Amino acid sequence: MASLGVNIDHIANVRQARLTNEPDPVQMAFLAELGGADGITVHLREDRRHIQERDLELLRKTIKSRLNLEMAATKEMLDIALKIKPDMVTLVPEKREEITTEGGLEVNGNQLKINKIVDKLKSSKISVSLFIDPIPKQIKASSDSGAETIEIHTGSYALASRKNQKVELAKVEESVNRARCLGLHVNAGHGLTYQNVEPIAAIKEMEELNIGHSIISRALAIGLKEAVKEMKNLILYPRKDRLFSS
Ligand code: PXP
Repeated sequence: MASLGVNIDHIANVRQARLTNEPDPVQMAFLAELGGADGITVHLREDRRHIQERDLELLRKTIKSRLNLEMAATKEMLDIALKIKPDMVTLVPEKREEITTEGGLEVNGNQLKINKIVDKLKSSKISVSLFIDPIPKQIKASSDSGAETIEIHTGSYALASRKNQKVELAKVEESVNRARCLGLHVNAGHGLTYQNVEPIAAIKEMEELNIGHSIISRALAIGLKEAVKEMKNLILYPRKDRLFSS
């Protein structure tokens, strides 16, 4: 059965919108683990738009599950990963102007560069996953790179119309088989929701699903009513010790 890696980037997005200290992704990671998360995933972006190095350092010290660091294949990120030592690094493509990760890593076209980074991470006992589209040449190149794991980009599956979803699912299934034949471990993620996760989770030999946006959105839906109730209570029934006497 596939395990669940919870991506908490969006919690940091809300914090960064005000450059304040709440919500704290480190505290929320604890709650994700209480809920059953098998791993915590964060993407440290070059522009630091959500997760900060401080988050990474504290997560490394506090979480009990696995820490999966998504990052671009750059020298700066490599140095950070070697310092923090997450359980796994997932190499992803990164464009400054994108809203979220678009498309998989072009391993095939950047074989030497990727091989070098994979090698350096593995020498430091950090497991490596490559986030790729479900395309045979990328799977082969990933296997050639020495990475132990691939994460299949499920964006096309998630965005497909109901009619095309079966075709996209078949591509993911075929990719899992191909990767397994090459000895790779297989994860998947991107765009998975409460509506579309089951067929992907049911794929035999799928090891881990990384899910962020949908879980954080659901957390707001489940939690907002309680949060408003608490605030309304403070307005209606102020705590005496919090009032300034005139
Ligand atoms: N996997 C990777 C490599 C990603 O970049 C992302 C998005 O940050 C996810 C999984 C999670 O995607 P979503 O937020 O759509 O669940």
